[in-house]
Amino acid sequence: MSLIRLDKYLADMQVGTRSEVKKLIRAGKVQLNGHICKNPDEKFDPEQSEVVADHVPVGYAAHEYFMLNKPRGCVSATEDSRYPTVLDYITDHKRKDLFPVGRLDLDTEGLLLITNDGALAHDLLSPSKHIPKTYEAMIDGIVTAADVELFAKGMDIGEKKPTKPAKLVVLKANVISHIQITICEGKFHQIKRMFEAVGKPVLELKRLSMGTLMLDEDLAPGEYRSLTDNEIYDLRHRKLDANSESC
Ligand code: URA
Repeated sequence: MSLIRLDKYLADMQVGTRSEVKKLIRAGKVQLNGHICKNPDEKFDPEQSEVVADHVPVGYAAHEYFMLNKPRGCVSATEDSRYPTVLDYITDHKRKDLFPVGRLDLDTEGLLLITNDGALAHDLLSPSKHIPKTYEAMIDGIVTAADVELFAKGMDIGEKKPTKPAKLVVLKANVISHIQITICEGKFHQIKRMFEAVGKPVLELKRLSMGTLMLDEDLAPGEYRSLTDNEIYDLRHRKLDANSESC
């Protein structure tokens, strides 16, 4: 068990500078294990404690966060009778309560967040939060400027409402086109259905990012790593930097 001072912990977790977090603590805006703690010197065990600063939980210790480069051929589920699941790829720090945040199709690869943090998952998946997700894809057909316009406007894919504006970037338009697309919703098979609607099937699909979280290029399909504290902090606070895609 290692103890840490409350102000140091909050500064380490990038809630603010040491003096900013001291002010926050003294103002009664920080809870330690459900109680307001106004003492910046208070020592506690982060592995065993829940810390909430300005209504945002900062006690990551009880949670695990993994980024998996999902390979094709496995399902985004916790169990399945036919296919391997994404959890089969997690070997270290594996806990029974882990689950994938959202779904990628059986034949889609790329970024998948796996965690046991239900609150964060709920936040990231909530339709009202419009979390941008960027994919790259190979498309059977020439993707045109008219497609870009249609995707930006919103289109009919057989749902009650048209799709929300999506940002489509054509990297190479040819018999087989290479594109990047950012969507802010997550309808079933959404990207495949959007391209089906313009008569150009998706041949390959890979997710590159979800909100602030970017796929680590060093991860081969099937490999994973823990998220860094900064990645967890940014996901929780949804700090999109200037380079992040939005719709
Ligand atoms: N859209 C799709 O069609 N499939 C995915 O796996 C993700 C988004």
